[in-house]
Amino acid sequence: MSKGIFITATGTDVGKTYVTALITKALCDNGINAGYYKAVLSGAEIINEKIIAGDAKFVFDCAKIEKEPNDYVSYILKAPVSPHLAAELENVTLELNTMYNHFNRIKSEFEYITVEGSGGIICPIRLDSEVIMLTDIIRKLGLEVIIVASAELGTINHTILTVEYAKQQGICIRGIILNNYDDKSFLHRDNKRIIERLTGIEVMAMVEKGAKRLNMQNDKLCSLYKEI
Ligand SMILES: Nc1ncnc2c1ncn2[C@@H]1O[C@H](COP(=O)(O)OP(=O)(O)OP(=O)(O)O)[C@@H](O)[C@H]1O
Ligand SMILES: [Mg+2]
Repeated sequence: MSKGIFITATGTDVGKTYVTALITKALCDNGINAGYYKAVLSGAEIINEKIIAGDAKFVFDCAKIEKEPNDYVSYILKAPVSPHLAAELENVTLELNTMYNHFNRIKSEFEYITVEGSGGIICPIRLDSEVIMLTDIIRKLGLEVIIVASAELGTINHTILTVEYAKQQGICIRGIILNNYDDKSFLHRDNKRIIERLTGIEVMAMVEKGAKRLNMQNDKLCSLYKEI
């Protein structure tokens, strides 16, 4: 039986990949067979004419997982725009069942899988005759979420909106991680306190700029993963 968790964020570029890399590294360093999956990546890098799923590569490099990163992303799209638009530009039809089947194959390879979302919690995946939103993927894969949020000014608004939307969508939130956190900043310390108070959800870890390790006990980290 595998276990999984879904990493979402208050927006794109907030640090899902960075935090996922630290989480995956922490698990691997503790001898756990940990892996990664992302359903749709847009804005892929092209290196030597080869398309690269940069997010997966970053995580695999950090955690020293010697597998082909592109094999762990169901759809790798070039345009650095929302998945629904990147897919439309490339004439690709994004299928929830393809993601589900791919994820199930990956499940058999790893004990703990950290799944990275695309963008923030509200992210259109497909908007043609069929409507698929990111939350449909979370539910289809049967996962609960961790929200990565910035430690900076504005994060109270972004984080609470994200929490409320996830709840409204019936998605269970296991915790919040504040990224680019500076313990010397009274603003960052206050943001942590206010987010916990207004959401009732624990800020389980704070990740500093350039952090090389996740500051969380391994038992606690493992307890966040749900059997899938
Ligand atoms: N704590 C940190 N310290 C240093 N650099 C960071 C940190 N968090 C994020 N970054 C950098 O900020 C950029 C955006 O972060 P990241 O790629 O993790 O965001 P993301 O939420 O995964 O974005 P996307 O929506 O494109 O998947 C990257 O260049 C990343 O390396
Ligand atoms: Mg990313």
